[in-house]
Amino acid sequence: MEYWPKILIGPGGEIMDKEYGFTAKIYDPLLFLALNPIRKAVLKELIDHKESRILDLCCGTGNQLKMLSKNGFKDLHCLDLSEPMLEVARRGDHSIDIHKEDAVRTGFKDSEFDLVILSFALHEKDRETQLEIIRETHRILRNGGQLLVVDFVFDDRTKALGRFGATIIEWMAGGEHYSNFRKYKQSGGLSAIIDEKMFRHVKSLRKAFTVVTISIFDRSETS
Ligand SMILES: C[S@@+](CC[C@H](N)C(=O)[O-])C[C@H]1O[C@@H](n2cnc3c(N)ncnc32)[C@H](O)[C@@H]1O
Repeated sequence: MEYWPKILIGPGGEIMDKEYGFTAKIYDPLLFLALNPIRKAVLKELIDHKESRILDLCCGTGNQLKMLSKNGFKDLHCLDLSEPMLEVARRGDHSIDIHKEDAVRTGFKDSEFDLVILSFALHEKDRETQLEIIRETHRILRNGGQLLVVDFVFDDRTKALGRFGATIIEWMAGGEHYSNFRKYKQSGGLSAIIDEKMFRHVKSLRKAFTVVTISIFDRSETS
């Protein structure tokens, strides 16, 4: 509870500290209204992938995979570095395979997955880490597999309310998290990170006052 006053302080308050120690406890209930429609939209996009081997990289509390699990998906794997987040992910009646590892260098074999989810995993990282995570995703996806990214998008279609809401949430996170978010926003977001030689864009849809994109890519066969 000693962190709460820092919400009022903002950048530097680091509500979302590096380990997500405190945040893990409040993440799902605090963000339920914002995230639940996005989780449902992801479920809808993946409904034909029930037989696929799916990895949620930087899965946090595992909230997205728990929704997939309740809807009949069976071969589900998640990975995160934060023990408090994974502690929440382990709760509940599910058979999700959970890994505590660095998304930059996972222990998974080449081409192990049919589909990888990266949900709100990129905007808070520095550029080198973002690129390393994308390269690792490419390595562990099979040829013709798919990448589904959920993250912020800032362009001429982004509504002012969405822009404001995302900025407030990230400002509350503070510190390095907020500074990386600002760089992500200023430097072209997702499109500046995804290498077209590795991933071919298939489709995108907008959620949360158009400030969030759910983007689907095919892993390229050539790289
Ligand atoms: C904003 S949360 C998103 C969680 C979840 N994907 C979601 O959609 O709610 C970012 C997550 O990335 C994790 N993370 C940060 N750096 C990581 C790394 N190098 N390897 C694995 N997980 C990492 C954090 O612990 C945190 O759980």
